[in-house]
This record gives sequence, C-alpha cells and structure tokens, in this order.
Amino acid sequence: MKFESSDRQIRSFVLRKGKMTTGQKKAVEELMPIYAFVPDKSINFKQLFGNSNPVWLDVGFGNGESIIHAARKYPDVNFLGIEVHLPGIGHLLMGIKEHGLNNVRIIRNDAVDVLDLFIDDSSLAAVHVYFPDPWHKKRHHKRRIINQAFLDLIKTKLIAGGRLHYASDWEPYALEVQELFAQNPWLSNQETDNGFAPRPEWRPITKFERRGQKLEHGTYDLIMTNS
Ligand SMILES: C[S@@+](CC[C@H](N)C(=O)[O-])C[C@H]1O[C@@H](n2cnc3c(N)ncnc32)[C@H](O)[C@@H]1O
Repeated sequence: MKFESSDRQIRSFVLRKGKMTTGQKKAVEELMPIYAFVPDKSINFKQLFGNSNPVWLDVGFGNGESIIHAARKYPDVNFLGIEVHLPGIGHLLMGIKEHGLNNVRIIRNDAVDVLDLFIDDSSLAAVHVYFPDPWHKKRHHKRRIINQAFLDLIKTKLIAGGRLHYASDWEPYALEVQELFAQNPWLSNQETDNGFAPRPEWRPITKFERRGQKLEHGTYDLIMTNS
C-alpha cells in the first residue's frame, strides 16, 4: 500500500508487516469489502451509514477494542475507524461480525490525509485519539500525531460542541498535549482545573492501557469540547 495522496513526508506510523491470525485473514477477505472502503472524494456520511446519526471518528484504532465497546453501547452513533495496520483491521472486522454491528465503517489509510482530503468540515461529533504512538525518542517527537497542524485540522472537522478525546499512558506526551490544548482557546477542557479526566464510559480499558498499567504508567485522558 502506498500513501501518496499528499506530499507530507513525516508520518505518525511505520507500516509494520505484522502477522495475521487465520480469523483476521478470513475477516479481511470476507468483510473488508463490506465494511471498509477507500475514499476518493468527500465522504457522504448519510449515504455511508444510511442515517443521519452523529459520527465519532477513532484515529488509529489499533485492534478496534474501543470501537467495538462504544458501537455496542451507543447504537445511535456512527463510528468511523481509520487505521493502517491490517491485523488490527482484521480484529475489528471480527468484532463487527461477532456483535452484528451495523454502525461501524473502516478506512485503511493515513488518518491525517483522510481528514484533510475526504472529511467535510463541521461533520464530526467526536474525534478519539487513544494511546497514539508516543515516539519516545526526542528525534522522533516530530512523528507524534498530536501537534498544532493536527489540531487546526480537527478544529475545522468538528461540529460546534464536538469532542476531542485524547488518552495516553505516556506522561511526558500527555503533559505536552495538555499544554498544547491549553494554547488553543477553541478547546475547552471538561475538567474545571484544565486537568486530566476520569476514564469516561465510552472508552474501555484496552490492551495498550493494560500494558501501561503493568509498567506502572498512569493513564491520562483529556476530554475537550470545541466551544
Ligand atoms: C499505540 S496504538 C493504539 C491503538 C488503539 N488506539 C488503542 O488505544 O488500543 C496506535 C495505533 O495508531 C495507528 N496510527 C498511527 N498513526 C496513524 C495514522 N496517521 N493514521 C492511521 N493510523 C495511525 C498505528 O498503526 C497504531 O495501530
């Protein structure tokens, strides 16, 4: 797969080959044509989901645990997941089938390109970025997905009152993001002290959070509103 839809050089991911289980492989073969698509023009959410329900976007959904949890809990919300890692997409497809979910669609591409090129302005009710790759080394910090350019993009895509929810187990990244959010007056923190929020009911504890807990990392949720 090539990512050539824009001329950005620095990506927030490295495409890993990653082994697929038999179940994931089967799900990709059978279900990818039904639930996943490659946009080539502005996405019409009403057409895509067959209704006008609000759309929550999950950027880099990993194995899709969060989407499966939330899509079951909120059947009147549409979920768009964007991820590049194929085994993770296979895992989400298996979950869609297992739970008979009809409110989830998937795009395999760079989420930043998709947001930039194919998502209409003021069309998303929520953007979730959970446990984005922390890119620990200083020379890799430029790869972190949350930066001012990303926020400028999100600002145009969220509806008024829409939500941006970031979660991480890597404190230095979380503190940096907290500071960046505070520099963007259009974002208001649901916590009155501008601090981290308790895990809300739409976000389950995922594999990445459990791994962080084992390493005695904390979890840092920032829940912001486009005010
Ligand atoms: C550390 S994992 C976290 C997965 C998941 N959000 C969770 O909480 O379990 C980060 C994921 O983001 C994906 N990712 C990173 N940058 C991306 C981008 N620009 N577009 C789509 N996916 C991206 C990676 O492939 C990886 O699967």
